[in-house]
Amino acid sequence: MKKIATYATILAMCGGALYSVIAAENVAEQPVQVEATKEPVVCFESRKGASEITQQEIKPGWPNVKCSPTTGAALWYGDPFEGTVPMGKMPLLENIPDGHALVKPRTEKLALMPLCSTACHNGVGPQFTPPTLPKDKRPTPIPTMEAMVPDLKNLQHGRDRIWCMDCHHTTKRNMLVDNFGDPVSFDQPQLLCGKCHGDKLRDWRDGIHGKRIGEFTTGGKKRWFTCTECHNPHNVQDGLRNKGFVQLQPEPPPQLAKGMKDAKHELVHPVPH
Ligand code: HEC
Ligand code: HEC
Ligand code: HEC
Repeated sequence: MKKIATYATILAMCGGALYSVIAAENVAEQPVQVEATKEPVVCFESRKGASEITQQEIKPGWPNVKCSPTTGAALWYGDPFEGTVPMGKMPLLENIPDGHALVKPRTEKLALMPLCSTACHNGVGPQFTPPTLPKDKRPTPIPTMEAMVPDLKNLQHGRDRIWCMDCHHTTKRNMLVDNFGDPVSFDQPQLLCGKCHGDKLRDWRDGIHGKRIGEFTTGGKKRWFTCTECHNPHNVQDGLRNKGFVQLQPEPPPQLAKGMKDAKHELVHPVPH
């Protein structure tokens, strides 16, 4: 027993010495301020370029798998409710207690939002503003907008059957629009998308389409991902792919279990179909 303890002590001392050497080398090679100037890790939650989040340390020294080094997507969340607000009124969700259905506001992600309806499209201003607001919903050339939002050059939504004013409010440009011409908040895009995609809205409300994270107890508080966190409203067709979602590079396969040579067993399905 005593012998083992002695060995352990020696080993620990060697380890300690070795560690000191490595530490000393590190100090010599890298200036101490490396930690302080380290770029924050930024990744996206659901749609690249639209739902960026900054990785936060959950607990000092803990591994943090929030941002995938492979795809750049967020894998795990420290706090599912960070930056959320109550969803607001939604048909058939009246029974959910206040503050139990949460969403992340879109407005802060939209760079042009402070200009829409104030500096531009206010119906009066001379300099940047179109002289008049459109009288109908028909497509018109919009080179200024195309320069600012390249996706608008070749609007990939509805196969030439819908245009800006089917979604954006004519006079209140910092708002979307419902079927009655009433304004809808950018933070509640489901009320806009749902006017044409009723089936998807229903699935989303039932938890079949989209994504929710949070407390999975009955009636628990949850964050609902809204339509525009995943879909780019100006490009839902993804060009030639002609399908509703821009694909991501998949994660690499997980490591094989110890002692396993390959994963061929996964190719064999026990039930023929
Ligand atoms: C299918 C509905 C729909 C159509 C059609 C549509 N938009 Fe949008 N647009 C949206 C939604 C929803 C957002 C908010 C996107 C988000 O939350 O990421 C948006 C955002 C924008 C923004 C703000 C972008 C930013 O980053 O700040 C501009 C500008 C814009 N649209 C202009 C247009 C123009 C011009 C057209 C016509 C060529 C158009 N949109 C057609 C739904 C639509
Ligand atoms: C004014 C009606 C209208 C609104 C509002 C609308 N869409 Fe669409 N959407 C369409 C039409 C029309 C199509 C084309 C269907 C087709 O021809 O296959 C479409 C297609 C789609 C597709 C499938 C693309 C494909 O070809 O597979 C997605 C995804 C989609 N919309 C998402 C949304 C989202 C998200 C919103 C809200 C931001 C929204 N839509 C708002 C009319 C609308
Ligand atoms: C968490 C992400 C996510 C959210 C939130 C989300 N969707 Fe989707 N949606 C998807 C994915 C993924 C697909 C499959 C696209 C594909 O096959 O390329 C899809 C497909 C669709 C399609 C096309 C279906 C088809 O047959 O091609 C429509 C329309 C659509 N979504 C509308 C909506 C609407 C409306 C909302 C909000 C009420 C919404 N989505 C919310 C991820 C999402």
